[in-house]
Amino acid sequence: MTTKTSPSTSTIKQNRGGLEGVVAATTTLSRVEGTAGRLTYHGYNIHDLARTTTFEEIAYLLWFGKLPTRMELVDLKVRLLEERTLPTVVLQVLSDLPSTTAPMDALRTAVSAWGAATIQGKPNLDQAIALTARFPVFLSAFHRLRNGLKPLESHPELGYAANYLYLLSGHMPKEEHVRALDAYLVLLADHGMNASTFTARVVASTESDIASAVVGAIGALKGPLHGGAPSKVQDMLEAIGTQDRAESWMRDALARGERLMGFGHRAYKTEDPRAEELRELARLADPREFALARRIEELALALLEEQKPGRRLYTNVEFYSAVVLASVGLPGDLFTPTFAASRVVGWTAHILEQVANNRLIRPEADYTGPTEQHFVPLGERQ
Ligand code: COA
Repeated sequence: MTTKTSPSTSTIKQNRGGLEGVVAATTTLSRVEGTAGRLTYHGYNIHDLARTTTFEEIAYLLWFGKLPTRMELVDLKVRLLEERTLPTVVLQVLSDLPSTTAPMDALRTAVSAWGAATIQGKPNLDQAIALTARFPVFLSAFHRLRNGLKPLESHPELGYAANYLYLLSGHMPKEEHVRALDAYLVLLADHGMNASTFTARVVASTESDIASAVVGAIGALKGPLHGGAPSKVQDMLEAIGTQDRAESWMRDALARGERLMGFGHRAYKTEDPRAEELRELARLADPREFALARRIEELALALLEEQKPGRRLYTNVEFYSAVVLASVGLPGDLFTPTFAASRVVGWTAHILEQVANNRLIRPEADYTGPTEQHFVPLGERQ
């Protein structure tokens, strides 16, 4: 006899699936207040941080739990600088990948190879710094290799954001591009218990190593419901092309049951505060592209409201990320890897927080399959 069990009603009530509303860890790193539309890192408002700090300051804040003094910041920059090398084993692996490989896959492979060759012992801060410093190195090396160019050495006078742009193009980056990318990296560095951070913490909780935890996180970030959205936003902006096509294009997409990329968020019930900052950055970075994006945003919000009045979906971080990242010269398939080059700080800070007070993360599942089945041996089955 086959019977079906059903999940307990209390579980269904509390949880629509996707662990919505479930508290999976305690953290002192960042706080997402979805109803207020507020994001803070260690209590500092993201708006203040995005307008006045550099990515290295935020890395210090998340790793050390306080904003650095000038000297502390110099020390961290020196440590990051010393680690900005491309190990031979990673160069070899990246050279062997087909040039059609998605950069996010190349990054995941590079981190895995680096971990295999380098990492021993429990996750620690030195490893976090060494790995973070190498994200732009790995990404730019792969980008150059796939274009038939040799990877470059890091520029000793350039910080994290500027060096990334330099490593990709071989040219000294424009000041306004560095500032825009730095602000982007600050905005994306951490965000509560998002899917990739949760993945990193789950892997770390098994007492696995830092590279394995970050490889898992890269895999989670890649999906379009998480960090994979901005290149799809760019595809949408390009496909729409001109303002007069926007409404019919989006109506058709919604009628096909597709989601409009760059809208909606699990945590925010109002505008994502990062979207507000990125909108301003986009306005300054590329006024022409901004005008089209702004019109599409307004129409998209109106159409989503029309589709389900009162549901209220808002612009998320990915919509204007696409405009900002394109304006600093990045190709669409480097958008999500660049997100990773920021979020690696959050991932590693969470991994260190997890191992400092570890308990294996091991939830349960409500079993809904058949029960009490009568077993029949292979030869007697029909
Ligand atoms: N376009 C159209 N409809 C959307 C939508 C979007 N961007 N985002 C959510 N919805 C709809 C869903 O279809 C669903 O409708 P239903 O209740 O009629 O089935 C409802 O809104 C709730 O969606 P759900 O998927 O349960 O919400 P969530 O909390 O899991 O979604 C996202 C969060 C981010 C996954 C979702 O908003 C989305 O897919 N956005 C587009 C991708 C994106 O921009 N990702 C980057 C996130 S930072």
